[in-house]
Amino acid sequence: MTPRRIRLGVNIDHIATLREARYRGGLPGAEPDVAQAARAALRGGADSLTAHLREDRRHIQDEDVRALRGLADARLNLEMSIAPQIVAIACAVRPDQATLVPERRQELTTEGGLDAATALFAGSPLERAIHRLRDSGILVSLFIDPVEIQIIAASALGAVAVELHTGAYAGASGAQSEARLADLRGAAARAQELGLRVFAGHGLRESNVGPLCRLAPIEEFNIGHSLVAAAVFHGLERAVRGMRERIDRETR
Ligand code: PXP
Repeated sequence: MTPRRIRLGVNIDHIATLREARYRGGLPGAEPDVAQAARAALRGGADSLTAHLREDRRHIQDEDVRALRGLADARLNLEMSIAPQIVAIACAVRPDQATLVPERRQELTTEGGLDAATALFAGSPLERAIHRLRDSGILVSLFIDPVEIQIIAASALGAVAVELHTGAYAGASGAQSEARLADLRGAAARAQELGLRVFAGHGLRESNVGPLCRLAPIEEFNIGHSLVAAAVFHGLERAVRGMRERIDRETR
């Protein structure tokens, strides 16, 4: 039996966060370059690129989204709120996938899942956004907590997939970690029963991804922070050596 291959989506917002810390608004030529990071992620085995175009544009900028869309052979998963102007951008750019997330101005990162259950009434803005995106040929996924009512609501609202929020699992230890894993196992099975595709993400790293790899319904992970943190160590030595050699060459 061939082992199943879980897709890896690499979230590159964190590259843009670093750039924005020095160059606000992503000036041309500003580093680190998001498209260059995307190409490195693809060379490393990423199946898709995930980028969150936030309403406050605190990291990814509109030009980044266009640059990522322009990369040949790269699947683009646009994380986004349902703000009408962001939905309009998504419908124009047409990413392969849109992951709808809640957005709060003060948060450091996406903190909780979408409240699909509360949005479940006829003509809700969430339902309208899902249908607009689907009508543009975009696969729509809802980022939700691994809670049954949210899964049922996601299905009823017309989502094609759910991304299960793994933050509580990633932040737990000991018996709590087992309990949160059980939540994810139950949620993944329920989503699959309802015909939803199942993705997962948030706070995942090499040391905690193993048990999730054994949850059969999960077909995609979206991972960002731990990869960029690891890249600092794997790449910093080479970057410093390059500078050392350059200085030495220029002073010879
Ligand atoms: N999936 C979603 C919906 C997210 O909002 C994020 C964080 O931007 C991630 C995955 C990746 O999380 P992390 O950076 O903790 O790996």
